[in-house]
Amino acid sequence: MRLVLAGFGVVGQSFARLLMAQEEDLALTYGLVPQVVGIMDSSGWLIDEHGVDLKRALKAKKEIGKVAGRGRKEEASRKAAEVIRDVEAEVLVEATPTNFKTGEPGFSHMKAAFESKKHVVTCNKGPLSIAYYALHELARHNGVQLRFSGAVGGGTPILDFGKTCSMGDELIGIRGILNGTCNYILTRIEQQGVSFDEALEGAKKSGYAETDPSLDIDGYDSAVKLVITANHLHLSKAGIRDVKVSGIRGISSREVLKTKKEGRAIRLIASVSQETGLVVEPVVIEREHPLCINGANNAVEFECRYSGPKVIIGKGAGGPETATSLLRDLLEIRGKINGTTAAVQSYNMSGLGGQA
Ligand SMILES: NC(=O)c1ccc[n+]([C@@H]2O[C@H](COP(=O)([O-])OP(=O)(O)OC[C@H]3O[C@@H](n4cnc5c(N)ncnc54)[C@H](OP(=O)(O)O)[C@@H]3O)[C@@H](O)[C@H]2O)c1
Repeated sequence: MRLVLAGFGVVGQSFARLLMAQEEDLALTYGLVPQVVGIMDSSGWLIDEHGVDLKRALKAKKEIGKVAGRGRKEEASRKAAEVIRDVEAEVLVEATPTNFKTGEPGFSHMKAAFESKKHVVTCNKGPLSIAYYALHELARHNGVQLRFSGAVGGGTPILDFGKTCSMGDELIGIRGILNGTCNYILTRIEQQGVSFDEALEGAKKSGYAETDPSLDIDGYDSAVKLVITANHLHLSKAGIRDVKVSGIRGISSREVLKTKKEGRAIRLIASVSQETGLVVEPVVIEREHPLCINGANNAVEFECRYSGPKVIIGKGAGGPETATSLLRDLLEIRGKINGTTAAVQSYNMSGLGGQA
């Protein structure tokens, strides 16, 4: 399986490291031998149809800050979409920065990939938030797949878990914490009694906050993830404008500490149901409630009509964590191509499948 990697930052580099670390397991357990034939960052391209040397690419990125090294000027100047169309590969792994206003450059990258019959695996929320159905339609039209489990929950398989919950049951609602930064801020105020601004500074220093933290604290990031989740799980055909959003900006540390004294906590909850529609708002919840998690984590409760509620909790971001989602998606694509699932591929490779 030949891959083109667009975006070689925190997630892209983690993905390259994960491919190297998992090389043997991917081959032995799944029979998958991925080969990266192109890498792109903001300054250009590195293309090698025989397979990019990932160790060297990571070293170049560290030492000179780009992948399109000396002698590769012609690649650096080519338009990204053109390169994605031309490169012979099966999958585009898209990990460029999220842009909620235009969806670019991710949207153009994905469009070019679909038009040249490449599958797309991405953790980029931008294009999905503005063109969810158009992207799916483009993929379908070209007979390829679009996978995006890393776009919600980083490495925690929230979307896959939700899909599993809805199989053989009816999903009637979702509520949860989809933004680790807000949760980190509220938890720090709660546990250390710091001011909102101090807690926000801490989130920035720890690398949790978006470059523009208003996307986190005003609830916009949660709203985008809620829209992606609701559409993916067929709970709504909504866009970002359909979400009633209020963030945590106005919340004082006094309020947080007073709620703590009452044995409860304030959390930014994103929810969707037939009755309420799509809402992101600060909610007071009991400390014992499974959604009342601490730190930069995510937690989502899926309410099923027949089997009741189920909760998934895990880290909502991080390079190595999000890279696992990209790889999981890759295995699912490979499974679909082979007409099986990743679990069955593993079973077959173990030899048991052959004996059965
Ligand atoms: N980090 C996380 O924990 C996490 C979790 C879930 C989802 N995501 C999503 O994953 C994506 C990548 O995140 P990240 O943390 O890896 O970001 P990042 O560290 O900023 O990396 C972004 C990469 O994209 C490249 N890039 C920027 N503009 C480009 C352009 N116009 N054309 C081509 N490449 C371009 C950058 O190039 P340079 O290296 O030259 O700057 C960099 O290599 C984002 O959409 C983010 O929302 C991230």
